[in-house]
Amino acid sequence: MTSSWTFFAQVLTAIFLLCVSNRIAVASEYTRPGPGRIVLTKYKLSGSSPQQVHVSAVEANHMNIAYITIDSSIPSKVEFGKVSGKYNAVASGDSSHYTYFDYTSGKIHNVKIGPLEPDTLYYYRCGGAGNEFSFKTAPASLPIVFAVVGDLGQTEDTTSTLKHISKSNYDTLLLPGDLSYADGTQSLWDSFGLFIQSYASSRPWMVTEGNHEREKSHDHQQIEPFIAYSHRWRMPYRESGSTSNLHYSFDVAGAVHVIMLGSYAHFGPQSDQYKWLASDLAKVDRSVTPWLIVLLHAPWYNTNEAHQGEGEDMRKAMEALLYGARVDIVYAGHVHAYERFTRIYNNVADSCGPVYITIGDGGNREGLALEDFILTTNPHFFS
Ligand SMILES: [Fe+2]
Repeated sequence: MTSSWTFFAQVLTAIFLLCVSNRIAVASEYTRPGPGRIVLTKYKLSGSSPQQVHVSAVEANHMNIAYITIDSSIPSKVEFGKVSGKYNAVASGDSSHYTYFDYTSGKIHNVKIGPLEPDTLYYYRCGGAGNEFSFKTAPASLPIVFAVVGDLGQTEDTTSTLKHISKSNYDTLLLPGDLSYADGTQSLWDSFGLFIQSYASSRPWMVTEGNHEREKSHDHQQIEPFIAYSHRWRMPYRESGSTSNLHYSFDVAGAVHVIMLGSYAHFGPQSDQYKWLASDLAKVDRSVTPWLIVLLHAPWYNTNEAHQGEGEDMRKAMEALLYGARVDIVYAGHVHAYERFTRIYNNVADSCGPVYITIGDGGNREGLALEDFILTTNPHFFS
């Protein structure tokens, strides 16, 4: 129990670390600042050098290494070990690329490495060339520190957010959607990958999709939804029995089950996502995995005028599943503000419901939600 409370306290600490204090105060004399300027990050190495390196956790003791090369002859291969410059293991993976109108991506590599030891620093090199990177695996048991941030973008404010997060020495980053704000401008995906590389190559970044991951169609030409996101940010959906990269789950520290839902995937009772969620929740043994956390993009509870009601259809479809499974916390983004509700179910305070937290103030180019809060008739909404 002590370790569980320690975990919970650290989750909350991580949340507060993410909230730059002068950005969340709601006081009559306070004027919220406008959005920060976009930071464009340019590629400066040779075409054979791996770039946009980021890692994500796969199963209990593996990591997926994703990187991009301009040179298509570079293999999908990662060498790794526990001593800098000495790689005693190597793994191979696969690669893909995509086109978006007149843009063609670089060669996108995904390599799964392991088995890895918990709470251990590993050094690695991608493609047999280029710079050495390192990451630390998550601990095998509690306590664990999550960094949770949504709607990140790539601005001066994002820079501040990431510097703030890095000071926490977190174990795993959870991002409930809206990553690059590329919105169809594919060069911004590349810039974003370079922008976050020093952070996302050193700790697992686990993400789900937001509305800004949808790519727009032009001139009535249809494109594959989430094409850039799915190619660039492969998450462990197959390992969790999901049929889509848009919803998946994973375990951390042997005691936390994290479910990433897709606000922009079908969620009705006949949908793949709904059936997968029901199946996934049924597998969780709370005596083994006491903590159950869900992330999604469009919040189900939101008193801000911004995006009001956009998560309501999904809430009506899926809330009973989360309530029945006694989910502890539901994080959302989308609304560029911080808000935390008391435990709640079907719009009524309920000690068996999850705590709902909106954490969409990561620093993107749209700035903070500036609309007023709506009045709620339920005084027990907030903790
Ligand atoms: Fe959003």
